[in-house]
Amino acid sequence: MAGLANEEINRIQSQANIVEIISSYISLEKQGKNYFGVCPFHDDHNPSMSVSEEKGLFTCFVCHKTGNVFSFVQDFENVSFIEAVRIVASKIGIEIDTGYRETDVYSKHYEAVELTLKFYQNNLKSQEGLSAREYLNKRGINDEIIEEFNIGYAPTNYDTICKLLTTKGFDEQILVETGLANRGNTLYDLFRNRITFPIHNPSGKPVGFSARIYEDINEAKYINTKETPIFKKGKILFNYHRAQNEARRLKYLIVVEGQMDAIRLYASGIKNVVATMGTALTDDHIKLLKKLNVKIILCMDNDTAGEKATIQNGEALSSANVDLSILRITGAKDPDEYILKHSKEEFEDAVKHAATYFDFKLSYYKKDKNLNKVEDVSNYINQVLAELNKSNNQVLIDLTVNELSQEYGVDKNVLLNQIIKVEPVKVNKIEPRKEKKLSKNQKLSSILLYYMMNDTKYIRLYEQELGFIPDEKYLDIANDLLAFFLKYNYINIADFITYEISSDKYEQVLAIVDNNIRIELNDADYVGIINKIKMWIDENKINELKAKLKSITDINEKLKLMDEIAKMKKRMCQNEES
Ligand code: UTP
Ligand code: MN
Repeated sequence: MAGLANEEINRIQSQANIVEIISSYISLEKQGKNYFGVCPFHDDHNPSMSVSEEKGLFTCFVCHKTGNVFSFVQDFENVSFIEAVRIVASKIGIEIDTGYRETDVYSKHYEAVELTLKFYQNNLKSQEGLSAREYLNKRGINDEIIEEFNIGYAPTNYDTICKLLTTKGFDEQILVETGLANRGNTLYDLFRNRITFPIHNPSGKPVGFSARIYEDINEAKYINTKETPIFKKGKILFNYHRAQNEARRLKYLIVVEGQMDAIRLYASGIKNVVATMGTALTDDHIKLLKKLNVKIILCMDNDTAGEKATIQNGEALSSANVDLSILRITGAKDPDEYILKHSKEEFEDAVKHAATYFDFKLSYYKKDKNLNKVEDVSNYINQVLAELNKSNNQVLIDLTVNELSQEYGVDKNVLLNQIIKVEPVKVNKIEPRKEKKLSKNQKLSSILLYYMMNDTKYIRLYEQELGFIPDEKYLDIANDLLAFFLKYNYINIADFITYEISSDKYEQVLAIVDNNIRIELNDADYVGIINKIKMWIDENKINELKAKLKSITDINEKLKLMDEIAKMKKRMCQNEES
């Protein structure tokens, strides 16, 4: 852990409220002492994840993922431990220098893109960029928007960027790996005579460009940065870094196709918008979207391609359980044109009236069908029934079947019979963990371990006075506690569970915590427990000796053993009295 001491990590953890941090990723609701939310680590449909403020712990009752605030961020953001610590620290306003950034490995790549961005940006303002600027202005992209989105202009010359970066000390490898240049007979710039739109990663670092022609020339409208170590197309959505806070605030995010659409909406004041840049949403894109935990309004272009994209992306989003609505604009080819022709307010109004994905599919199936023809009606009905088959929503099924039956005069029961009964998804009831029927001695062991989890002095006392529990399961955990204490010289339930406990013991440790959480720690009680466990150990010994007694024939040996047993019994009585 370069440059970050354990004390520093502890300080951050003690100041970070786990409920607040996790709430910035998923929504939590209070139920009794704990908070509950839908678990983001498995395909969850119920709030199966509980978060305990007191214990600084989260745990899922279904997939059993458990950990502290750092492990949550680590797994949710898919980053290293140290990066997770940095993220948590910055969320609570502590700036730390971990001496390491995930971006360090590619710092030269990022730097090259940043420099190129600045160059393009300046170049747009120069004489050479004049006609590009005129084009933008004609499209209603004023200087303010140009500035906000760092729009630029890539010069006509074939190697301006190559020269610029080489002079600044970047070698060919970086130029090619960032996709800024290609290697043919010579090294040449990828973007030439185009308007450039920088693309940022989710943390807001520029990682590539999309570049548009602005004159009537016979070339691809846009060319984009190819896949590079820092630009992973499947993980990047245009404008995500600017949109995320606004999306969380308004509880919805608009997803459009083109960056020009996103820029137009943003510039008109609708800032919770991202663009897919014309590609189908990948699993990683959907992860990014789910992270916001908001409703998604899918608004693809008003053409056949846009309709196909709606179905394709709609399927992916709805099977990932994203709360989804579909906005199909009319009277304009895309959201950009819609805003220009109408207004921000009209667009917002259309968002409010966006259809459910199910309703969109029904109207999609109706299109291009002549519903006066029996064959088309039957095709349509079968398509709808196939959709209903995928649904667990009994109310939706009933309403839709009623409607179909009335509209097309088909017997309701005939329709219902077509719907194959889908097994309802088993709901996992959340029950507090309970250690199963414990004996008196097991109860004592459980309390003993709970004390040890809460204060190192109880671990030390255990080591000095006992060092053993005559029940393998509890002994195992006591040894783990001892090991944790020796390694880190402190104790904290969340960290102990995260870093020391193997997954097969999670349940038991959590049960111990759950069962004893109401106990008020008290030194005298602890000593009492230790003594009782000592008696348990003695009892076991006496029983062993008694068994041995039976098998011995030598009279002297027998007397010796009986004497030993008597002594032990006496000691036990004294212990009991004290
Ligand atoms: P569109 O053709 O809808 O682009 O393609 P647009 O945003 O409306 O562009 P304008 O308004 O004509 O300037 C949607 C997205 O698909 C990608 C771009 O990211 C574009 O924003 N695309 C499109 C390409 O990558 N290459 C192309 O040749 C065309
Ligand atoms: Mn457009």
